[in-house]
Amino acid sequence: MSKALTGVRILDMTHVQSGPTCTQILAWFGADVIKIERPGAGDATRGQLRDIPDVDSLYFTMLNANKRSVTLNPKTEAGNRIFAKLIEVCDVMVENFAPGAIDRMGFPWEKIQEINPRMIYASVKGFGAGPFQDCKVYENVAQCTGGSASTTGEVDGFPMVTGAQIGDSGTGIHLVAGILAALLHRERTGKGQRVECAMQDAVLNLCRVKLRDQQRLAHGPLTEYPQYPNGKFGDAVPRAGNASGGGHPGWIVRCKGWENDPDAYIYVITQTQAFPQLAKAIGHDDWLEDPEWSTPEARLPKLDRVFAEIEKWTMTKDKMEVMDILNPLNVPCGPILSMKELAAEPSLRETGTIVEVEHPERGKYLTVGNPIKLSDSPADVERSPLLGEHTEEVLRSVVGLDEKEIAAAREQGAI
Ligand SMILES: CC(C)(COP(=O)(O)OP(=O)(O)OC[C@H]1O[C@@H](n2cnc3c(N)ncnc32)[C@H](O)[C@@H]1OP(=O)(O)O)[C@@H](O)C(=O)NCCC(=O)NCCS
Repeated sequence: MSKALTGVRILDMTHVQSGPTCTQILAWFGADVIKIERPGAGDATRGQLRDIPDVDSLYFTMLNANKRSVTLNPKTEAGNRIFAKLIEVCDVMVENFAPGAIDRMGFPWEKIQEINPRMIYASVKGFGAGPFQDCKVYENVAQCTGGSASTTGEVDGFPMVTGAQIGDSGTGIHLVAGILAALLHRERTGKGQRVECAMQDAVLNLCRVKLRDQQRLAHGPLTEYPQYPNGKFGDAVPRAGNASGGGHPGWIVRCKGWENDPDAYIYVITQTQAFPQLAKAIGHDDWLEDPEWSTPEARLPKLDRVFAEIEKWTMTKDKMEVMDILNPLNVPCGPILSMKELAAEPSLRETGTIVEVEHPERGKYLTVGNPIKLSDSPADVERSPLLGEHTEEVLRSVVGLDEKEIAAAREQGAI
């Protein structure tokens, strides 16, 4: 079966996480992703956070599935020629090196366009044009500069970064959208274009509800925040603990076993339309007739007491029991699932969201498969490539070099 992106060839100049996330998704959609890595070294993540000596790390293997690896140094004479040829025959080039790094290799956008006017050239940088445009950026820097850290954490605590990689993987996913739009546009116009995504911008996009709240703040307190009604609001959106970001109050409450299990908690949302069922389930039928509790407005100033009462009930049950009871009542809730629980969850294996892959050096490992499911283009997750595993194959079949030329490039340290 052909895949959605069969026939699209990607020149993958990405490293670490943001860029590789993007090209991995493109590979799962069926694109031929040719990952260029520095000869002898490769993507630095191959060696980072290693759990098995001398074996590609899970950091690398979980971000580079379904790709081909070619070692190539475009800063050598032969490498420069090979790289130019790759630009000529690829559809999309993706990179996330430091600002200016690809230009310094001799390939500014103007040159790339000259070589291949159909080329779509996509980049991730830490910041867009402005005072920080030349800065190098990693995940947590983006979370801090994109509005996530200032709005995450305990009400009176430090700014907090989240475990979800919204700066790296979040930007990579945004970049996928830009590349696909540019590919469609090219269908109509025959022309490639530049696609840029700054990590600060992607994080801010994911934090747009907090910019909403910043503007609401000018018109009064944010009544759904834990600071209301007794705490103080400053002139910027504060941290809100585990309060729900939407219009219906929610909080994390303890469940049976919480004393020994750090994940024995559940998130419960007191959605207005399901509140009567929730009140009855926790033994508070009395709330439904009492004007002190019966309306969302009456409950708003005492949400802490609402959730304390809910918690008295959840603490008598384990989180899955709470889930089983509340879901049929249409009360939105979600148990806090640990990575251990997620890794063992059969339904995630069945949908291909968690996949076991065989690697020649590491053996079996788990990875997260494509979360975007296409009915006619299922993603078959294949292991990540070894460093330079496909160098000769690509140089022969894609670049068109013969054995002598390959040997000469090797001699020069170009591959
Ligand atoms: C992630 C980041 C901070 C890492 O910085 P770094 O480890 O110092 O790496 P750089 O990107 O500066 O690249 C280092 C060098 O490797 C070189 N290089 C990359 N691939 C090469 C190859 N195949 N052959 C030879 N040299 C290569 C680059 O040309 C660059 O050299 P130069 O600075 O002399 O021009 C930086 O790349 C960055 O800010 N990227 C953009 C934002 C981003 O994506 N961040 C998230 C990463 S998950």
